[in-house]
Amino acid sequence: MPGDEGLSRNPGSLVTPSGPDAGYDLDTAAAIVEAAGRAPSIHNTQPWRWQLRDGALLLRADRSRQLDVADPDGHSLLISCGAALSLAALAAEGGAGRPAKVERFPDAADPDLLARLTSAGPQEPSGQALQDLEAALARASDRRPFSREAVDQETLEQLRAAARAEDAYVDFPHGRDKLIALAVAVSFADREERDDEAYQAEMRRWLRDPAVHPEPVDGVVATAVPHVQPGHARHTDVPVRDFELGVGGAQLIEQDADEYAVNAVVMTPGDQPVDHLAAGEALMRLTVAAQRRGLASCPLSQPVDLAAFRVRLQNSMGWVGVPQMMLRIGHPTGALLTPSTPRRPVSAVLDAWGPVPGGMEDR
Ligand SMILES: Cc1cc2nc3c(=O)[nH]c(=O)nc-3n(C[C@H](O)[C@H](O)[C@H](O)COP(=O)(O)O)c2cc1C
Repeated sequence: MPGDEGLSRNPGSLVTPSGPDAGYDLDTAAAIVEAAGRAPSIHNTQPWRWQLRDGALLLRADRSRQLDVADPDGHSLLISCGAALSLAALAAEGGAGRPAKVERFPDAADPDLLARLTSAGPQEPSGQALQDLEAALARASDRRPFSREAVDQETLEQLRAAARAEDAYVDFPHGRDKLIALAVAVSFADREERDDEAYQAEMRRWLRDPAVHPEPVDGVVATAVPHVQPGHARHTDVPVRDFELGVGGAQLIEQDADEYAVNAVVMTPGDQPVDHLAAGEALMRLTVAAQRRGLASCPLSQPVDLAAFRVRLQNSMGWVGVPQMMLRIGHPTGALLTPSTPRRPVSAVLDAWGPVPGGMEDR
């Protein structure tokens, strides 16, 4: 089993299910958790914990990994966990051949218990599940400028359909007035965050400089950060989060780069935790659908990091739904990026043997 050494153990409460309908065994759970770990997360914080209890996989928010400044209300944390949940369900179906029945927020008294996955029994994976899982594991956030080639309308409609669920949908703002309003909202959010020293310090804590962190397991690595050379600025109406505030980027952008991204916005009916989790699931479906069509993508959360920013964006765009997340999508310049941002081992995120004395372990 991948990374099983060091799983937190409390002998006595281990129940090893067996038989076709008996839930997830440890190896299957570990494989699902390992795949789910490839989900995108804010600053690659991976703010999730998994528990295996009586054959059910429980997803928990790990508040010790929440960003105090960029994510004071845990919005991005829940979106990140929603993405991991979506990928876990995909891995259960496409990888383990044991699709999951997913209950969200199954215990009102325990709001950090985000989901319970129970096995619906063995089932041959569909071709779609296999291909979606392959795409999800190959995906990486591409922060480079995208090529001039436009993403055609038919593809956008396919992406919209792939992301849509009862509780979340995607909008692609277009037309001059909408794009100006979007650009202004993102620009203001970017300025407010980058002018805040506490924001900069927090970002620096999550950036991984190879000279200081030779083998990181989390955070944003320099190889995933574009280097913008003096005099070769990115020409963009909608700015991207600038990680070079904290680490010298190692992804070279050679030419004066103009931006040709489609800006997708994930929307939900409300702005409650249940909406944030659903938005994360939609984000994951959207990135998978983009990846399967050879499109690069990168989440951009600055205009929605704070509740006040979300209200401002919603009002300036005249939306009925609440904007939860943005995703820049476009044709990559060259090949699609392969994953370069590291993850924590399964042993650090899965607890399989009952309650950990004293509560959840610290990082
Ligand atoms: C809620 C959320 C917010 C994010 N915000 C940004 C962002 O503003 N800018 C950015 O470049 N990446 C953003 N990301 C992408 C993460 O930095 C990225 O997923 C993480 O570093 C892991 O890298 P990977 O996506 O290549 O696996 C965000 C991801 C999530 C889930």
